[in-house]
Amino acid sequence: MKLLEVKNITVKFETDEGVFKAVDDVSFNVNKNEIVGLVGESGCGKSVTALSILRLIPLPSGRIEKGEILFNGKDLLKFDAEKMRKIRGKKISMIFQEPASALSPLHRIGQQMVETILLHKSKTNKEAWNIAENWLKRVGIPDAGERMFAYPYQLSGGMQQRVMIAMALMLEPDFVIADEPTTALDVTIQAQVFELIREMRKSHTAILLITHDMGVIWEMCDRVIVMYASRIVEEGSKSDIFSKPVHPYTIGLLKSIPKLSGNAGRLKAIPGYVPSPYNYPSGCYFRDRCPDAFDKCKNEKPEFVDLGQGHRAACFRVRKNE
Ligand SMILES: Nc1ncnc2c1ncn2[C@@H]1O[C@H](COP(=O)(O)OP(=O)(O)OP(=O)(O)O)[C@@H](O)[C@H]1O
Ligand SMILES: [Mg+2]
Repeated sequence: MKLLEVKNITVKFETDEGVFKAVDDVSFNVNKNEIVGLVGESGCGKSVTALSILRLIPLPSGRIEKGEILFNGKDLLKFDAEKMRKIRGKKISMIFQEPASALSPLHRIGQQMVETILLHKSKTNKEAWNIAENWLKRVGIPDAGERMFAYPYQLSGGMQQRVMIAMALMLEPDFVIADEPTTALDVTIQAQVFELIREMRKSHTAILLITHDMGVIWEMCDRVIVMYASRIVEEGSKSDIFSKPVHPYTIGLLKSIPKLSGNAGRLKAIPGYVPSPYNYPSGCYFRDRCPDAFDKCKNEKPEFVDLGQGHRAACFRVRKNE
């Protein structure tokens, strides 16, 4: 069952240096009870894609130029601000890449959490306080009762990130967007957070997990979307992506995982850099770094080739199995 349908979303930014597309004609679905991974190198448009779902693209420089974002069949882009506020947190929540952007510096942690709970649920103050404190414990915050009285600046970056994770999960939303949720966390806490995310999924929450780490994708996700330079280049089930990847970019990303490629510690990174969005090359955006590029890649934009069962890739070298 489809929970989220992102259809042909394009997001443009206008800065002093010019106009560019941070997200170019991106479409994908997230089904109920599913963990979908969104992976790609830095600057590929993962966070902007996520922010557009919640309509949090910073104005006035950014705007969603076209597309639809259907959540339970309704286009979020047509919602007014009030309706959108009701959706955020309760139906869809986000673990932001920057914890500081999600916590108010002026209010104590407990107060922020309790207010959010009271805004969306009919609970007493005491009940809301207990829910909040319990979630702080679940994300591994020691002395949770005392931390409820702390201001964000009194907590380390890792602690702030855990508070934000608790806030994103505590309303038990239908859909959680987790943007690099565990980057500031040590391995033990990271494992704990991943376990929480898996538990949420069991209780019917769908998750879009954003990461640049194919190892995390392997551990957590059912389906994978690979993004490169503002566009999706390949999508498939975890087994398709890991055992039958077809796009040279996906193949490059997989080779750079030390654990899976067996060359512990020695990363075979893809040579070159993601091009600047102000001057993407003509044709396929990956062609400058692609070991298999040929003339056509310079001149034409590759369209998706459907490889069956939800596996698709945008590359001229890819052939449909007949
Ligand atoms: N508020 C903004 N104003 C202007 N440009 C922006 C803004 N936010 C993002 N961008 C640009 O949009 C492009 C996509 O950025 P995005 O943050 O989505 O990348 P990402 O895939 O999340 O990367 P990372 O892995 O580093 O988080 C980048 O070129 C980035 O510099
Ligand atoms: Mg990001």
